[in-house]
Amino acid sequence: MARRMGVEPLFINHKIFPDGENYIRVTGEVEGETVAFVQTTAPEPDRKLMQAFLLARTLGDLGARRVVAVIPYLAYARQDKRFLRGEALSLDVVLGLLEASGVSDLVVVDVHNEESLSNLENNHRLRVTNVSAVNLLAGYMRDTGFQGALSLSPDLGRRGVVEKASKVLGGGMAFFEKTRDRVTGETAITGGSVEVEGRDVVVFDDIISSGGTMSKAIQALRELGARRVAAACTHVLPVPGAFERLRNAGAVRVVATDTVESSYETVSVAGLLAEALQGLDR
Ligand code: R5P
Repeated sequence: MARRMGVEPLFINHKIFPDGENYIRVTGEVEGETVAFVQTTAPEPDRKLMQAFLLARTLGDLGARRVVAVIPYLAYARQDKRFLRGEALSLDVVLGLLEASGVSDLVVVDVHNEESLSNLENNHRLRVTNVSAVNLLAGYMRDTGFQGALSLSPDLGRRGVVEKASKVLGGGMAFFEKTRDRVTGETAITGGSVEVEGRDVVVFDDIISSGGTMSKAIQALRELGARRVAAACTHVLPVPGAFERLRNAGAVRVVATDTVESSYETVSVAGLLAEALQGLDR
């Protein structure tokens, strides 16, 4: 990102004490500067968030004029509503803590639900920019053998995403419907009328965690006669067994971005983030 923006990156000293606490030290000069720090929040979301809070506050203490948090994968964003009475509104808490640590701007990639994020943003002074990696992912799939493939979402709620993807891939779009048991967390995928016989399909989602959602969608597509099915997501979380689950379901490719480090086939969001930073009002 720094190279693309033509600025010098500053690296920090960091260690973890034997009891698990974090130590952060900023060694460069930041006084009077706008500083963007980059900290994704997987694996170990709690630790990574704590590091972000420590770093943001320290940059402010050192006199940074403005502290921008670039959090490519924002953990806790899926709990963006109270689905059951008494649940913690996790996304709101995280936004509040970032703000309290001195962050004035937050840049994220494909947050789970942009509308919820905008609603919660109103509770805070923090300005949030959500960058979409969908065109990047779809363009990569198009250029690597999936031109003309159907773009499919396992979830009706992600209509906007597949609309964008289908414009790039040029093969139309379709949806399954996902329902979740709010107590057990179990999900089910329905929507067996999608026409996919003999077609290539790319299933787009924001996150692959356990791989459950994606593998159910892939399996359903294979049963409906799809030729090749690939999975494309923005954030791949390091949950053991997910990749095998997707392969066993019949995924010919699993592609993600580098918002979270992984051994998957990835496309980099560095350029998108650099553009977003350059676009922030100064
Ligand atoms: C949830 O609604 C998200 O959009 C993803 O579909 C979900 O987080 C994927 O999780 P898993 O891989 O565990 O099914």
